[in-house]
Amino acid sequence: LPPVITIDGPTASGKGTVAHRVADALGFHYLDSGALYRLVALRSQRVGIEVDEVKDLADLAHGLHLRFRGDKIWLEGEEVSQLIRAEDIGNRASALAVHQQVREALTARQRAFRTRPGLVADGRDMGTVIFPDAPVKVFLTASVEARAERRYKQLIDKGFSANMEDLLRDLTARDARDASRAVAPLRPAQDAHLLDTSDMTVDQAVAQVLAWYGQ
Ligand code: CDP
Repeated sequence: LPPVITIDGPTASGKGTVAHRVADALGFHYLDSGALYRLVALRSQRVGIEVDEVKDLADLAHGLHLRFRGDKIWLEGEEVSQLIRAEDIGNRASALAVHQQVREALTARQRAFRTRPGLVADGRDMGTVIFPDAPVKVFLTASVEARAERRYKQLIDKGFSANMEDLLRDLTARDARDASRAVAPLRPAQDAHLLDTSDMTVDQAVAQVLAWYGQ
């Protein structure tokens, strides 16, 4: 099987940016697994399925028609790359990600990204559940303040409105939910390298991951 580098961590820890850059540096594919949960969130919201209707959500997750190309994502033929980044969609994704059946419905889709020459997979359970045999696992963290600031900048850059107080509150709530859920809770894999990026530049974080990979 082609190699995988897993990068897990809490919301707005900088995983996405670091994972992307590592993938580019190695010429590897990139899996943004959070996007899959966000896509289920958007689609289910549109068709009127509630976040506790587990069977319907799992069926929907199984049947989603998706296309990924570069940074763009199509859902049922519509380009939704920006839409799924809205904060309410992230919160809804976190709420439906607690269900085992929903997670299982997305498992094969995630593993299918593991193709030559290799994959960088970004998420919450990449190292613990989806790719437990990954040769390099990273658990990326940063302080709540650093993460709220990053998320604030991200949202403003994307043209969304945002305020720090709401972000800090949502971020803390999302962390608590992701870490305390019974199924695939957010935690480092036993063999994961821990990387606290609060006081690191993106370049430094990328260099460290590449060093762990042996590059
Ligand atoms: O951008 P942010 O880090 O806030 O979130 P994301 O990575 O896009 O993921 C959105 C939500 O999906 C998270 O809050 C998790 O609850 C869930 N998720 C998950 O359960 N497992 C993954 N592998 C990825 C995301």
